[in-house]
Amino acid sequence: MKAVMIDELGLPPVCRQIPDVQPSDGHEIARVRAAAIKNIERMLVAGTHYASTQLSLPAQVGMDAVAELIDGRRVYAGAIPPGGTMAEHMLVDPSMTVPVPDDVDDASAAALPNAGVSAWLSLEHTGQLRSGQSVLVLGATGVTGALAVQLAKHKFAAGHVVAVGRNRNRLEALTEAGADRTIGIMDDPGRLRSAIAKAHTDHPFDLVLDHLWGEPAEQALRALSGDDLAAAYHRTRFVQIGEMAGHSITLAASTLRSAGTELLGQGGGSISPEVFGRVTTEIIPELFDMLARRTLTIDTATHPIEDVRSVWNQTMPSGTRAVLVP
Ligand SMILES: NC(=O)c1ccc[n+]([C@@H]2O[C@H](COP(=O)([O-])OP(=O)(O)OC[C@H]3O[C@@H](n4cnc5c(N)ncnc54)[C@H](OP(=O)(O)O)[C@@H]3O)[C@@H](O)[C@H]2O)c1
Repeated sequence: MKAVMIDELGLPPVCRQIPDVQPSDGHEIARVRAAAIKNIERMLVAGTHYASTQLSLPAQVGMDAVAELIDGRRVYAGAIPPGGTMAEHMLVDPSMTVPVPDDVDDASAAALPNAGVSAWLSLEHTGQLRSGQSVLVLGATGVTGALAVQLAKHKFAAGHVVAVGRNRNRLEALTEAGADRTIGIMDDPGRLRSAIAKAHTDHPFDLVLDHLWGEPAEQALRALSGDDLAAAYHRTRFVQIGEMAGHSITLAASTLRSAGTELLGQGGGSISPEVFGRVTTEIIPELFDMLARRTLTIDTATHPIEDVRSVWNQTMPSGTRAVLVP
């Protein structure tokens, strides 16, 4: 069968023939219909993710997909290592699959779970957002950030949502998707800091979702900090999720002492098994239902699996997820 493989960390993956998937106990062979390329897979393959060293090379690529079971049902399923999902066939554990509703297309169903579950958990579980609270989303023009804006407003009833990003057109579109205010990332970091500080004064942030780290996160953290011993206390949970703008930041000690900022992170290793247990039974089914009802939207661009090498490092239009189709 055709499958996406990597031989060496740091090189783009390639599509080539490998032996067919073999049946194994408790698992079923399913025909893959669509597999999205997420940033976590790009980082794993590049060797920059904290789990890259666990890959035994050569390795198949792909963490999840929409696939068709033997009885014809379309399901969303995760990879069963060492198998990958960017291939013609994959093994699935039938008890861990999520049915895909008829009116949700393959590409959207393949692209939604990784970003949608991240956005959901960062708001509900890690961020502990309460109805009416105020949220700042850094990197809101990306797929995950845009879903966080939509879920904050339409699922978790946030009172005020501020979207921060580079792409002006996407920011504009986010005002129709749930953002009450947008802030463009400018070349001048000081201007970004003062725009966030002004928004924090108007509607103090209870939660910051950070998909960027690097300079924008540094400026946001400084914008939250008080420059006054008698500054009013306001608790802000700052949830670190992604690192599109940098792998590290400089953080002055006083930033954390002079405000009620709480630094948290979200990813594999920072979520309890009990919470993960809700992902396939509760969270993804509701995300699919919201997609079917158009309460959530996600943009995708499909490509034949054979084109993986050229698509892998291609810059996608802002907010669009590349999806491979075998
Ligand atoms: N921890 C988790 O569980 C989890 C889950 C999902 C995603 N993530 C992480 O979250 C991050 C975003 O994911 P995504 O799915 O939204 O990715 P995406 O769709 O590729 O979007 C990337 C976002 O980052 C912005 N960006 C890229 N480089 C930037 C820079 N130098 N300065 C400022 N903004 C920059 C992009 O802005 P433009 O729109 O202007 O291009 C866009 O908003 C990634 O690091 C991903 O790995 C983590």
